Amino acid sequence: MGCLGWKYQLFCLLSLFFHFPSSSSLSSVSPCSALLHFNHSLSLHRYASQMCAISYPKTASWKEDRDCCTWDGVVCDQTTRHVIGLDLSCSWLYGPIHSNSTLFFLPHLTRLNLDGNDFSGSLISSEFGNFKSLTHLNLSNSMFSGKIPYEISHLSSLVSLDLSYNYGLLIETPVWKRVIHNLTQLRELLLDWSDMSSIRPNSLMNLSSSFTTLSLYECNLQGKFQNNILCLPNLQTLDLGINWNLEVSLPKCNWRRSSLKFLDLSETSFSGGLPDSIGNMNSLKNLNLANCNLIGSIPTSLGNLTELTFLDMSFNSLNGLLPLSLFNLPNLSSLYLNNNQLVGPLPNHVSGLLSLKDLYLSSNFLNGTLPSWLFNLPSLMKLYLDGNQFIGEIGEFKSNSLEHLDLGYNKLQGSIPRSMSRFVNLTYLSLSSNNLSIMLELEMFSKLKNLKLLDFSKNLVSINNNATYTLPNLQQLNLSSCNISEFPIFLRAATTLQFLDLSKNRIYGQLPRWLGDVGRDSLYFLDLRNNLLQGPFSTPSFLSLRYIFVSNNKLTGEIPSSICNASFLDVLDLSHNNLSGVVPKCLVHSNVLSVLDLRMNSLHGTILATFSKGNNFRNINLNGNQLEGPLPRSLANCRNLEVLDLGSNKINGTFPYWLGSLLKLRVFVIRSNKFQGHIGNPKTKFPFPNLRILDISNNEFNGPLPRKYFKYLKAMTKMGEGKVMLKYMGEGYYQDSLNVMIKGSYIELVRIQTVFTTIDFSNNNFKGQMPKIIGRLKSLKGLNFSHNNLTGYIPSSFGNLSNLEWLDLSFNKLVGEIPKQLVDLLWLEVLKLSHNQLTGQIPSGKQFNTFDNDSYIENLGLCGFPLSRMCNSHEAKKPQLLTLQQEDNLELENGFSWQAISMGYGFGVMFGMLMGYLMFKIGKPKWILRLVKLE
Ligand SMILES: *[C@@H]1O[C@H](CO)[C@@H](O)[C@H](O)[C@H]1NC(C)=O
Ligand SMILES: *[C@@H]1O[C@H](CO)[C@@H](O)[C@H](O)[C@H]1NC(C)=O
Ligand SMILES: *[C@@H]1O[C@H](CO)[C@@H](O)[C@H](O)[C@H]1NC(C)=O
Ligand SMILES: *[C@@H]1O[C@H](CO)[C@@H](O)[C@H](O)[C@H]1NC(C)=O
Ligand SMILES: *[C@@H]1O[C@H](CO)[C@@H](O)[C@H](O)[C@H]1NC(C)=O
Ligand SMILES: *[C@@H]1O[C@H](CO)[C@@H](O)[C@H](O)[C@H]1NC(C)=O
Repeated sequence: MGCLGWKYQLFCLLSLFFHFPSSSSLSSVSPCSALLHFNHSLSLHRYASQMCAISYPKTASWKEDRDCCTWDGVVCDQTTRHVIGLDLSCSWLYGPIHSNSTLFFLPHLTRLNLDGNDFSGSLISSEFGNFKSLTHLNLSNSMFSGKIPYEISHLSSLVSLDLSYNYGLLIETPVWKRVIHNLTQLRELLLDWSDMSSIRPNSLMNLSSSFTTLSLYECNLQGKFQNNILCLPNLQTLDLGINWNLEVSLPKCNWRRSSLKFLDLSETSFSGGLPDSIGNMNSLKNLNLANCNLIGSIPTSLGNLTELTFLDMSFNSLNGLLPLSLFNLPNLSSLYLNNNQLVGPLPNHVSGLLSLKDLYLSSNFLNGTLPSWLFNLPSLMKLYLDGNQFIGEIGEFKSNSLEHLDLGYNKLQGSIPRSMSRFVNLTYLSLSSNNLSIMLELEMFSKLKNLKLLDFSKNLVSINNNATYTLPNLQQLNLSSCNISEFPIFLRAATTLQFLDLSKNRIYGQLPRWLGDVGRDSLYFLDLRNNLLQGPFSTPSFLSLRYIFVSNNKLTGEIPSSICNASFLDVLDLSHNNLSGVVPKCLVHSNVLSVLDLRMNSLHGTILATFSKGNNFRNINLNGNQLEGPLPRSLANCRNLEVLDLGSNKINGTFPYWLGSLLKLRVFVIRSNKFQGHIGNPKTKFPFPNLRILDISNNEFNGPLPRKYFKYLKAMTKMGEGKVMLKYMGEGYYQDSLNVMIKGSYIELVRIQTVFTTIDFSNNNFKGQMPKIIGRLKSLKGLNFSHNNLTGYIPSSFGNLSNLEWLDLSFNKLVGEIPKQLVDLLWLEVLKLSHNQLTGQIPSGKQFNTFDNDSYIENLGLCGFPLSRMCNSHEAKKPQLLTLQQEDNLELENGFSWQAISMGYGFGVMFGMLMGYLMFKIGKPKWILRLVKLE
């Protein structure tokens, strides 16, 4: 009777604990009680089978008082009554399977399927090797972990082994060799997601010719794959997708004999193009060659693969025209050719594609008009043609089956087709960046109840707010740059909205009250930049907001205290408004905020609150307000700070040397404030190690220039970074921007290139000599010491500042000659030495031939070109201050030799072409105009 019936349970448990495991006694345990105890050792959680399309707890119906051969998932031999099959796939099983599990007391099992459960990281027990009769073992998708045990290779009857989609199972060479050599019956082997990095792909050559399935998706296989596997006559499935370091090529074999139905070589290192002979694999249903370096054109012969239902060759470098043959495949359901370099028009007439559901041709160079067959495909659900050069109008669709439609970034015009209003299942609609005229109105949109994403940005949109309709499932709305002047009223009911971008429009007036209810618990992104909004910024509910951009409007009043409810706020950009009041304390306190951009408002008061330890600030920009008082010491808690701009306020106090410990600080601007006193020596060992923009101009600093700081500005001494790819500061949604003085103009850099480097100490009261050591700051593009009381010579070491584009030393009391080494500053475009006491002949050659009088005026002792005063023989011949010059020359570093750069005149012009590092929004100095002219 075994252990059925509750009275016996205790006895059975005891017997299990005390008599096992010893294989001799296996037969003495009833299989039913083994099953029962196996079931009791686990719990049931719906979550455990969440990866399954359909799942239910099979064991929940197991009843002790019924013969286990009748239980769901259990199969017994008709005559012997042995349990020979156990299928508990997708059965909500949760918990570990240890080696003492009673699962292993089922010695007659031939099929075991535990797919789609959660055995919570159990090792695959070596006991699995004792199922001597097992032909099919499926432990996929079940959260097993660790090494695949050697004992698996004892299952010599195994026909099918599936250990795929567990978390990082490791298979090592000895086990692998045994599996390949010893399991002679094996026809199917699936190890997807296992770690096979130590396995040599060549070992796959020895697979038996009767193999039908080999699936090693994302196994970290490395090296060359001698893949005559592809020629195995019975192979139906070969999946080697996502093995980046696996070098694959298509072998030459007689593919007419191939049985291959499923071939996935995506995201491998493919070499070469596709041979025409691929058209012979006539059993192929599923071909995935995405993102594997394919080059050349698409072979026409693919059109002979009439069984094909799935074809993915996206993210390659395929070029040439689209072969018509592809478009006549009768069974094709998915065609992905996006992100290639395909050119030319779509075919005019197409007969196949009756089953086509997904068509992805985005990001190519396709052109011409959209042919009518495109609108007649009866089963089409997803159509992506964005990022091409299509022209003309969008036709009327015949079928209503579309779910995703993306025609963005083309040159389409006209209006949107009326038929779109019938797409009841449409969830994704993007027509961004075309020349369409779109009317947002009831008739068009009232049926699109499933719409989740609507992107009409960069088109001409008009809004009819007269009739109300709702888009109840809308999650993302982008109407940026649509020339709209009001909020679309359907937003009112968009209670689950997550992303709203209405930037760059003409929306005027106050924020509507109902805006606070839009996505009250879901909205995380709000962009209302560049509109004409007025009144207070009070309505949004803030609860879930992470990114707020409302800059460049006309908002007034205070920053509402309700902003303190935004406990996930990451970026707050309210810059360029007219907000007044103080900076709310909670913003300063925040541990989450990374960007606080309140520049160009009318905020006042002192920053009283404390920046907390461990905060997340990366950019704090309060430029252009009326803040006063000293800076809080707690700013030094902002360990991640990269940009600090407090310029144009009324902040006072001494130089905040304690910011020198901020290792990531790249931009530090306190220009136009009321700072005063000596800068003194740094208090930390390597102050401001990453600083690249330092602007303390227009303050009341005095005393000598801070030589020791110049010595340690490490980031400014680095050269050569200009060669790395253009990189801009900022991350994610927020691009850092900044107002800086460049060559005498105050300019907004809408993007800051990471190598941009300047020092501006102008308009203070510094005195004494300029330290020679400044000549080491080789990445400097601009240096401004003008309007101070500096004395002494211009150090010839300035000739080492080989990146320098502007140098302003005007309005000081400098004496001596202009060092001739400055001639070698090949990028120097602006030189201001006026209003000093310089003497002698102005150096000539290279950039110096481009400066005019203004560079030198009010230096009574200067002579020579471009000044009208000629040098007399005495001045021309006078040797430069030799001692000083020689000393400076000793400072030349790293073998830099200006004689080696003997490029002639004409740099002023060339310069323009190479000025790629700036993007300007306002103000165009003359050299930028030159850049435009050159293009
Ligand atoms: C089975 O083994 C595990 C781990 O070794 C242990 O925690 C558990 O108590 C054992 N169960 C029984 C019933 O012996
Ligand atoms: C398979 O392995 C077992 C033991 O691991 C060994 O006894 C047997 O000879 C092997 N069979 C083959 C065909 O290699
Ligand atoms: C496609 O198949 C036909 C008939 O078998 C054959 O004539 C043609 O050459 C094949 N096309 C290509 C491009 O291989
Ligand atoms: C489409 O592109 C092809 C190849 O770039 C070009 O030759 C052709 O003139 C273009 N046609 C149209 C209508 O723009
Ligand atoms: C919309 O989707 C439902 C459910 O998938 C489907 O039954 C229906 O046919 C679809 N409607 C259209 C017009 O394709
Ligand atoms: C909306 O209604 C107003 C007033 O009733 C009318 O003047 C306007 O033309 C209507 N707008 C549209 C687009 O129908």
